Amino acid sequence: MSTPTFPVTKNKNPQLAHFNMDEIAFGKNFTDHMFVADYENGVWKNVEIKPYSPITLDPSSAVLHYGQTIFEGIKAFKNDKGEFVIFRPDQNLIRFNTSATRMEMPAVPEWLFIEGMKQLIHLEKDWIPTKPDSSLYIRPFMIATDPYLGVRPSLTYKFMIILGPSGPYFSAPMKILIEQKYTRATPGGVGFAKNGGNYGASLHPVELAKKKGFDQILWTDANEHKYVEEVGVMNVMFVIDGKVITPSLERGTVLKGVTRDSSIILLREMGYVVEERNLSVEEIVTAHKKGLFQEIFGVGTAAVVSMVKQLAHEDYIMDFDIDKMVIAKALKQELHEIRMGMKEDKHHWMVKI
Ligand code: COI
Repeated sequence: MSTPTFPVTKNKNPQLAHFNMDEIAFGKNFTDHMFVADYENGVWKNVEIKPYSPITLDPSSAVLHYGQTIFEGIKAFKNDKGEFVIFRPDQNLIRFNTSATRMEMPAVPEWLFIEGMKQLIHLEKDWIPTKPDSSLYIRPFMIATDPYLGVRPSLTYKFMIILGPSGPYFSAPMKILIEQKYTRATPGGVGFAKNGGNYGASLHPVELAKKKGFDQILWTDANEHKYVEEVGVMNVMFVIDGKVITPSLERGTVLKGVTRDSSIILLREMGYVVEERNLSVEEIVTAHKKGLFQEIFGVGTAAVVSMVKQLAHEDYIMDFDIDKMVIAKALKQELHEIRMGMKEDKHHWMVKI
């Protein structure tokens, strides 16, 4: 199929000139245009780029009642050579369609997902921030739009891409509590998918942890609360006795993070041993008691590489000196240099717009 050129309706009231690129938060500001497509009778139609604006939904739309909605998070950068680049969008497309299958939604083809994103970003390229630790955050998502209250897969869907200049998701090193009561995912469930409900269900336990002074929770397995899984907005990596350990994906309860995958590849290339396996809370606490637990950090699209300064298991508190985090910092720098074009992109991760 030849590359389509999507129709564009220009925003008559663009906000770019009024936006302060020095004050960028995560997920608060959006660019002047959005990409929209509708699915009906097995085909994608009404594909267009139009001014960013609220959308109209029937109050009985399936997404509002039964949570048939999925999303992705991707980043675009202006690199040091002045090129506009997206980080591994092909991987997000694969995961998006894996989520779609699990949520009984239609697959979104590459010509919509990748081409839509490229043409939208091309139009919005002046919104890409260049401040350190900032980027253009890309949020593709799909919602079920059937006006019907019966519990069955919708027959109609809306796929959209919105963009926003974004700063770091976590602006400071985090304090994390190991969750011992609530659960995020079960084998056979939807933990591996990026469906809205996974995130909605995490809000109450995270708020309870915040009341105790923590920023986030580290989820543990649903059966025994014995093995650590992920933080919910990011995957997690531990450095124990010089080795990097990250929870494995095999139970289907951990999101297959694109930054997680990239980090494993880069860390191995940097000479570190990386193990993907079950990691128990007991092993973590024992390693800490022996002085072998050296670093803990999160990896994710929004989070990039985020340092953790404290991890708590019930009353047992493990503190970390951020200044001594060698591996987390080296990984962050390596990712930064690849994204900025300062280092050879030997895996062809950066897609030019
Ligand atoms: C991302 O890292 O892009 C995510 O999807 C996490 C998000 C819920 C902020």
